[in-house]
Amino acid sequence: MFISRIAQSIPPSKTLEITERVNEKKSQGANVLSFGAGQPDFDTPENIKKAAVKALDEGFTKYTAVTGIPPLRKAIAEVFQKQLNLNYDPGQIIVGNGAKQVLATAVMALCNPDDQVIVLSPYWVSYPEMVKMAGATPCIVPLAEGSFQLNMDAIKRAVSPKTRAIIINTPSNPTGSVFSKDSLEELAELAVDNNIFVISDEVYDFLLYDGEKHVSIATLGQEIKDKTLVVNAVSKKYAMTGWRIGFGAGPLELIKAMGRLQGHYTSNPNSIAQKATIEALTGDQSSVDQMVRAFTQRRDYLYERLSQMKGISLYKPQGAFYAMPSIKEILGRSYEGKKIGDDFDFCTELLEAKEVALVPGGAFGASGYVRISFATSMEEIQEGMDRMEDFIDQIFV
Ligand SMILES: Cc1ncc(COP(=O)(O)O)c(C=O)c1O
Repeated sequence: MFISRIAQSIPPSKTLEITERVNEKKSQGANVLSFGAGQPDFDTPENIKKAAVKALDEGFTKYTAVTGIPPLRKAIAEVFQKQLNLNYDPGQIIVGNGAKQVLATAVMALCNPDDQVIVLSPYWVSYPEMVKMAGATPCIVPLAEGSFQLNMDAIKRAVSPKTRAIIINTPSNPTGSVFSKDSLEELAELAVDNNIFVISDEVYDFLLYDGEKHVSIATLGQEIKDKTLVVNAVSKKYAMTGWRIGFGAGPLELIKAMGRLQGHYTSNPNSIAQKATIEALTGDQSSVDQMVRAFTQRRDYLYERLSQMKGISLYKPQGAFYAMPSIKEILGRSYEGKKIGDDFDFCTELLEAKEVALVPGGAFGASGYVRISFATSMEEIQEGMDRMEDFIDQIFV
């Protein structure tokens, strides 16, 4: 069977391997606690569901404008204005099937096969693959060790005449870090000076801790705004991951190009979900506050527990719902005679021995780390941390 070079270069998702093993164990009756999920464990709020039912009842079930229905693009433009003081014409907004499609389409619209795109590691798993799917090359640049902040020296060294774009994500999946305004200003200057386009993934902008403030790079002046696509979604903020609605705001020419690509790939995003999204963005926001409060409690508890475990060092997450502790001090030791050589071994043994599923940092370009999602109940977090502590205690006996 002939398979294209691009398709062959895309590996299966490493996180999927763990998920498959979890499902297999669960089907055998095991009480597996999974901390791998990248989605809120809350249900979509009632007012949003009702808006979808209304759309169905009214027969809003046909193709729509490719880049989204005008009232939705207007509502999104108003949200950008209200939350970030960013002024976009509705024509500068594209609605896609989740932030994921918007990001992939942006990369495809921006890159030629010879181009490079800077991706910061630890990265969200799909960024390097999106770049490869566009035929371009991901240039992986590490974030600062420990703090996971932008490492401007490393980024400057990576810039070449082939650098077309950089993808940033703040607050970050998988690290939980939030980039400082100062570092974003430095990055903005570098991007403007070197004609590098910024794709800014801000899907966790609502989920911040310890009084941290979200800064969108697009707010740091007109020149950088003209070189930035801000990407967001209702997926995480309104517990709507399955509805598949994300959006991007940026220069008109880019949005038009993305619309042409999307028109041939998928046409419009789901008509009913678009109507529901108008309600999500313009309706009652109290569910978001409740979710943020729950995540804050979980983050505090998880951080406390992990900080007390032997061999673990941890950056305190400032946003999103992930913690990414280093397990480097554990590597090279053994659990019941089995060597823990890397983060994959750690996750495999933890799953087999204690039925706790984490994602190995290697999946995010961060060997020696593990990612723990706290988008799961407090009870599960408590039980999961007890089991993980037992596991680590046995490693250190
Ligand atoms: C950083 C980041 N960007 C984008 C996405 C994708 O969002 P959506 O479900 O809207 O496609 C995710 C989902 O896990 C994410 O963590």
